Amino acid sequence: MKIGILKEIQGDKRVALLPENVVKLQQMNVALAIEQGAGEGAFISDQQYREAGAEIQTGDQVMLESDMLVRIHPFTGEEISHMGSGKVLLSLFNPLTNKELMQVAAEKGHTLFSLDMIPRITRAQSMDVLSSMATTAGYKAVLDAANNLPSFFPMFMTAAGTIRPAKILILGAGVAGLQAIATARKLGGVVEAFDVRTAVKEEVQSLGGKFIEVEGAREKQDSGGYAVEQTEEYKKKQQQLIHDHAVKSDVVITTAQIPGKRAPVLLKKETVEKMKAGSVVVDLAASSGGNCELTQDNQKLIHQGVIIVGNSNYPSDLPADASKMFGNNLLNFMKLLIDEQGALVLNFDDEIVEKSCITHDNQIVHERLKE
Ligand code: NAI
Repeated sequence: MKIGILKEIQGDKRVALLPENVVKLQQMNVALAIEQGAGEGAFISDQQYREAGAEIQTGDQVMLESDMLVRIHPFTGEEISHMGSGKVLLSLFNPLTNKELMQVAAEKGHTLFSLDMIPRITRAQSMDVLSSMATTAGYKAVLDAANNLPSFFPMFMTAAGTIRPAKILILGAGVAGLQAIATARKLGGVVEAFDVRTAVKEEVQSLGGKFIEVEGAREKQDSGGYAVEQTEEYKKKQQQLIHDHAVKSDVVITTAQIPGKRAPVLLKKETVEKMKAGSVVVDLAASSGGNCELTQDNQKLIHQGVIIVGNSNYPSDLPADASKMFGNNLLNFMKLLIDEQGALVLNFDDEIVEKSCITHDNQIVHERLKE
């Protein structure tokens, strides 16, 4: 089997596999090819890939000649149609909102795995690309907030007077939120966090954050660590709580998501308008509609003196480590699909394989998508 690594789309500096991953894959008896210049953004040269044993090819050659193709950004309908048929595709396809693309892949007979559908179970932790990317985003969001804030994060007692520490409010304490709490604390900020899942309270506190809560959240045991929709009454109380804390904060970082749905709106326009001029909002959920009513995806805007940043690709701003984490996760996942002779094995009895496979045998095979 031959695995092809494609260059990311314009503006993304990451790469799906590193030379060290290439070495390990070759030990599993597979051949590798990589598109020319694919590692450049992450400061890895073609020569380093060549030395690791990969063939350097044009994008078209990689696409046509490889049996398994990997890229962080999903393949387009046009690419899927023109790459031949019967390939194995690995990427972050976001299939629940890209059903038409999945149909095209099924019609072309590709076996498509969407890495964002890998279940968040203990055995799959080493393959969890979403957590890796959310970690980089949580970290970068705080640095970006600090860069935009007209004040310091830490407290200073200087001869020129006392500088009070910045107050940071984090909405959503999942992977990105917890990393944001840790980073903001390291920079000396005073951190508060809110989440509908009360299970995260202790984690927030152990990172030095204060957990603020609303009574009566709906939680589901079998939701795989994800949030579920809340009642209208709860949402009202939550909105008031967020409003009260946001207007006293210098920075609000929002990370709330419910998989497969539009991001919940937590920060209303009225709240932003009551925040201090010079405050900063960083909205990590910008690509799924935003947690702040005013967010524009991939834009920075100022509304009545409040800076609102909607950056959807923070991992690309940390290309070396984001690629390293992605590559290691991807390699661990690929080990489930490749046997000792380097041939493809599809064990659908394995929950991880079953839940991440979207198309196979000219059909959409994923239960949730079939519904
Ligand atoms: P996660 O699912 O681990 O965490 C989301 C948290 O939000 C959960 O703890 C959940 O309980 C909470 N939540 C859901 N609804 C809420 C509500 N109404 N109020 C308060 N909390 C609520 O997700 P993860 O991996 O931390 O990702 C967070 C967000 O960051 C996602 O929207 C993801 O798409 C985005 N992301 C953004 C990147 C960027 O560059 N901007 C890169 C990677 C992820």
